[in-house]
Amino acid sequence: MSGVNEIRSTFLDYFKKNGHEVVQSSPLVPRNDPTLMFTNAGMVPFKNVFTGLEKRDYVRATSSQKCVRAGGKHNDLDNVGYTARHHTFFEMLGNFSFGDYFKETAIEHAWTLVTREFGLPKDKLLVTVYAEDDEAFDLWKKIGGLSESKIIRIPTSDNFWSMGDTGPCGPCSEIFYDHGEHVWGGPPGSPEEDGDRFIEIWNLVFMQYEQLVDKRIDLPRPSIDTGMGLERFAAIMQGVHNNYEIDLFRALISSSENLTGVEAAGNTLASHRVIADHLRSMAFLIADGVLPSNEGRGYVLRRIMRRAMRHANLLGARDPLIFKMIPTLVREMGQAYPELVRAEPLISETIQLEEKRFIKTLERGLGLLDDATSTFNAGDRLDGETAFKLYDTYGFPLDLTQDALRNRDITVDTDGFAKAMERQRAEARAAWAGSGEAATDAVWFTLKDELGATEFLGYETEQAEGVVTGLLKDGEVVETLAEGDKGIVITNQTPFYGESGGQVGDTGSMVGEGVELRVVDTQKKADGLFVHSVEVVKGDVTKGIALEMAVNGARRQAIRSNHSATHLVHEALREVLGSHVAQKGSLVTPERLRFDFSHPKPMSHDEVAVVERLANEMVLQNSKVETRLMAVDEAIESGAMALFGEKYGDEVRVVSMGTAVEGSKAGKTYSVELCGGTHVSSTGEIGLVTLVSEGAVAAGVRRIEALTGSEARKYLSEQDARVRELAGLLKVGAGDVTSRVAALMDERRKLERELTEAKKKLAMGGGSSAGDTGVRDAGKFKLMARVVEGINPKDLKGIADEGKTSLGSGVVVLISTAEDGKAAIVVGVTKDLTETVSAVDLVRIGSEALGGRGGGGRPDMAQAGGPDGSKADDAVKAIEDHLAAI
Ligand code: ALA
Repeated sequence: MSGVNEIRSTFLDYFKKNGHEVVQSSPLVPRNDPTLMFTNAGMVPFKNVFTGLEKRDYVRATSSQKCVRAGGKHNDLDNVGYTARHHTFFEMLGNFSFGDYFKETAIEHAWTLVTREFGLPKDKLLVTVYAEDDEAFDLWKKIGGLSESKIIRIPTSDNFWSMGDTGPCGPCSEIFYDHGEHVWGGPPGSPEEDGDRFIEIWNLVFMQYEQLVDKRIDLPRPSIDTGMGLERFAAIMQGVHNNYEIDLFRALISSSENLTGVEAAGNTLASHRVIADHLRSMAFLIADGVLPSNEGRGYVLRRIMRRAMRHANLLGARDPLIFKMIPTLVREMGQAYPELVRAEPLISETIQLEEKRFIKTLERGLGLLDDATSTFNAGDRLDGETAFKLYDTYGFPLDLTQDALRNRDITVDTDGFAKAMERQRAEARAAWAGSGEAATDAVWFTLKDELGATEFLGYETEQAEGVVTGLLKDGEVVETLAEGDKGIVITNQTPFYGESGGQVGDTGSMVGEGVELRVVDTQKKADGLFVHSVEVVKGDVTKGIALEMAVNGARRQAIRSNHSATHLVHEALREVLGSHVAQKGSLVTPERLRFDFSHPKPMSHDEVAVVERLANEMVLQNSKVETRLMAVDEAIESGAMALFGEKYGDEVRVVSMGTAVEGSKAGKTYSVELCGGTHVSSTGEIGLVTLVSEGAVAAGVRRIEALTGSEARKYLSEQDARVRELAGLLKVGAGDVTSRVAALMDERRKLERELTEAKKKLAMGGGSSAGDTGVRDAGKFKLMARVVEGINPKDLKGIADEGKTSLGSGVVVLISTAEDGKAAIVVGVTKDLTETVSAVDLVRIGSEALGGRGGGGRPDMAQAGGPDGSKADDAVKAIEDHLAAI
């Protein structure tokens, strides 16, 4: 009865027997809570039930909740590996009462379970209570028969539990187990309490308050929240003092021993423990949709992964290895947490990729460290900023930096490192605070309680009558929406789809006696309340009136096509790229579909083409789209793709379409997905699927955009029209456009070359407005002067050189005028004359005539410009006069 899996089921069964609903663990990424990074306690998914915002159809529950404490208020990351009981990931067993039973029953259950079902001897147990909680004190005396010396009053926050900075909270009472005198440590509240002798096994929180930002208020009814760390309890049941010695961790550690070939003993123990602990965090976080990144949750995941990988490195691993431990983890925990089994390929792929990446940064980081310390001597100290840069930029943990420098007797300024780290943490906190998902508005929960969920009729019909049950204007509940108002209308039932699962909400109209409304959007709130955003076109809307509601049918049809096509593309991507492809988000609008998925690299043109072909083959198959309602487990068993980390109700819709003709699924149903969206009835209605873009959205996440039906046709015919237009211009058939354009481009390159040559030639001989060959005497010099048009000033020097050569001895003046009216001038003087006359002086004279100033170069070649090209002949004349006068 003492294996982890048995303890878990004994706990849940006990509470089930006692009228508790067994609730599946919620995802690690909390829903409806912008204040928490990860689910860090069993009560988190029930937060809104405690505060009364949300009602469930049970008042007692029990669960084994996945928890991560590696960020935010409860953060154990730095301790993991070095202590007996710290984990980043752990399971919390708990029982909950939502205004049903309170202290007495909670204590009774805890005592019975621990002493009878689990059979722990009474004399090994002691408890703590909050200092002022006399009631709890007396109950323990009565129920447990504990002597007063075994009921310890604790006045500190240790016995007052809160979820985070805000949320439900209350005084608590903890049960401790005494390992006996032979282990060092003192009872809770004593100076030696941190020793290993007295171990807390179960925390009973008497939830009474809700902490708001500025004050603490009473909960509607006193409630119970309890938490038992499964791992530490298993340690006690298995007679070991260290959580890492329980069956589950022994299995994981033996796997890392096999893979590294290093026994877990002595100074390698911590590394094996870190790897085993972090392996669980990374696998479960990835299964719940978190991917490593540089911000928010993804960043915490990355730190956990790298910390584990660095420890693998310490154990001598030089190749990716942690990902190979996943099958062991799945074997140990997959039965209790089927999401692990479902996400196994994605988990392995992601870890292996991160390992490959880190091995690379590790090498780069070491290189940088060598450079930074190349002039260091023994006894020197590396500054904290550099150590932090290594950590931050290269993913290099501080202790690895210290290790690498230790044998050269170089230390690291750890205070400086901590300062840089604190600065960065503050920045990260600020960034995180701003990035939370929007808090679920209390008003929607209140309305949902009051009005009940809206019945959605839109799978079967696009038109239906409904009665107005609620109206809002500017976020406030109102009695009437008057003509011209914009606001929200809630009805008892609706054919309008409320935005969810990536599919946008419906638009359309509502018409009643004397009233007319335009529906511009529909949203789904508080898990089932459909809210229509409307503009009142005519009349006043009041509660209780009946409205004929009609969805914009053409728009809905386009949305349906895009949603069904999304499923086809999703399956095609998995077939072409592999089963690691998991949906990371989607948007289905009437115009297009967008699909984000995990995949580490860009898709090739060929891959895109095959995905498009496969999706279109399913369209042509024109198979019926089938929708069935199933229990979640049944659906997942039948192979339906579920979104990892998504919360589903008891019953889910399973949408399947197409029969696979090739690949591993040949002969079987092509696409099967859990989906609440609206779909075409046969795939043929989609008409056509065209992928129009493929790109990156985040590290490891790609985005595809596609069009269907008439949008796809429009897009393709526009492309076609463009090709025809081109073919017309080029005077070839459409099929020859590409070769014709290639030939034209070749030709153009050739012509450009020829043109340059021709211009040069022109400049050298004739065509100049300065006269015939342009060579004449100017005083005692031979002068070649030409004014040409449109020659690139860069080419003038080369031409001037040629001029000098053909003159043998003399002066060359070239002026090129450009279209914008400006001119460039180059003067060349043959070497034999540079003592007598300088090109620099001559070019200045020319430039002045052109309205410019300056110019420069050497006595044999100088160059200048001027704004007024119409004075080119004057410039030649001025130089000629100057030469004549020498
Ligand atoms: N929520 C309580 C805890 O986490 C039970 O300890």
